[in-house]
Amino acid sequence: MRVFLAGATGAIGRPLVRRLLAAGHAVVGTTRTQGRAAALRAAGAEAVVLDALDAAALRRAVLDARPEVVLNELTDLSAPLNPRRYAQWLESTQRLRTESTATLLDAGREAGARRIVVQSVCFVTAQRGPWVLDEDAPLDDAAPELTEPVAAMERMVVDADGIEGLVLRYGWFYGPGTSIGPGGQHAEMVRRRRLPIIGAGDGRWSFVHVDDAAAATVLALDAGGRGVLNVVDDEPAPQREWVPELARAIGAPPPRTVPAWLARAVGGELIVRTGTTMRGASNARARERLGWRPGRPSWREGFAETFAERAAANV
Ligand SMILES: NC(=O)c1ccc[n+]([C@@H]2O[C@H](COP(=O)([O-])OP(=O)(O)OC[C@H]3O[C@@H](n4cnc5c(N)ncnc54)[C@H](OP(=O)(O)O)[C@@H]3O)[C@@H](O)[C@H]2O)c1
Repeated sequence: MRVFLAGATGAIGRPLVRRLLAAGHAVVGTTRTQGRAAALRAAGAEAVVLDALDAAALRRAVLDARPEVVLNELTDLSAPLNPRRYAQWLESTQRLRTESTATLLDAGREAGARRIVVQSVCFVTAQRGPWVLDEDAPLDDAAPELTEPVAAMERMVVDADGIEGLVLRYGWFYGPGTSIGPGGQHAEMVRRRRLPIIGAGDGRWSFVHVDDAAAATVLALDAGGRGVLNVVDDEPAPQREWVPELARAIGAPPPRTVPAWLARAVGGELIVRTGTTMRGASNARARERLGWRPGRPSWREGFAETFAERAAANV
């Protein structure tokens, strides 16, 4: 089928393009640069160069592509993260979530697309109740400036008239080209012992290998219906377990442990919450509705695989 992929060159976009083409789909992918457009064409996709915040250009590209399915994998998170300026760091990504999704919805409908599938994240749920939550859990109301754009985007997709909308809430990506891959931001923090366990390290993180997330997204072209699905692996993990395991996989020294008050003073409340109260996500619904199984059911083996060559070379 014909697929319009907004954000074809990112951490998820690259494996997704590979998998879509391998499954026999025709892909029209977007990027802002001519160089990446050339790489997309060399891989076998069509490429459109545009800024997704230019609504007229994005609409024109969707109409020209005449897709059956529209995929939105746009994010803008590559700048170094300063947790004290989290809202500013997220600003362009929030605009891509709300403004670009609205454009893609309208243009997709106008172009006759039957379905739209949009990237979201699983780590925005309220940080209370059971340690592992499903898609019906409320979103985090302690930081509405961060979660409200995500909630608005999700509502817009699920409630859309005239086009079937599915939201995929991915877990924390790991694997090549992600922040938990060789040279990635989180991996480097762990390597330098700058990602400590906070307090008892109870905060639960749900991960997904980026290629497993791409596999789920290909299934979502046809399956999953309308709604919201968590695309995460089988093992939500307390921070006290996964950080030391990641350090081992990288060949780094074990992490430090710091009290919450110190982490709060240095990094701010958001960092403390990810280490102590964040909830994990269940993938039961995605398994049932997509027929998806993560190729790496646990981040334990996935981290080891991701960094195997680095650990062997001791770099
Ligand atoms: N669930 C998760 O854990 C999660 C989710 C998203 C991102 N991340 C992480 O965040 C890190 C960096 O991510 P990222 O968001 O910077 O980049 P990315 O994942 O590498 O890709 C973002 C995609 O959006 C496109 N894009 C961004 N702004 C655009 C705009 N204004 N107009 C058109 N296209 C635009 C990029 O295209 P061009 O740059 O080619 O123009 C690219 O295709 C990665 O390590 C990734 O793993 C994690």
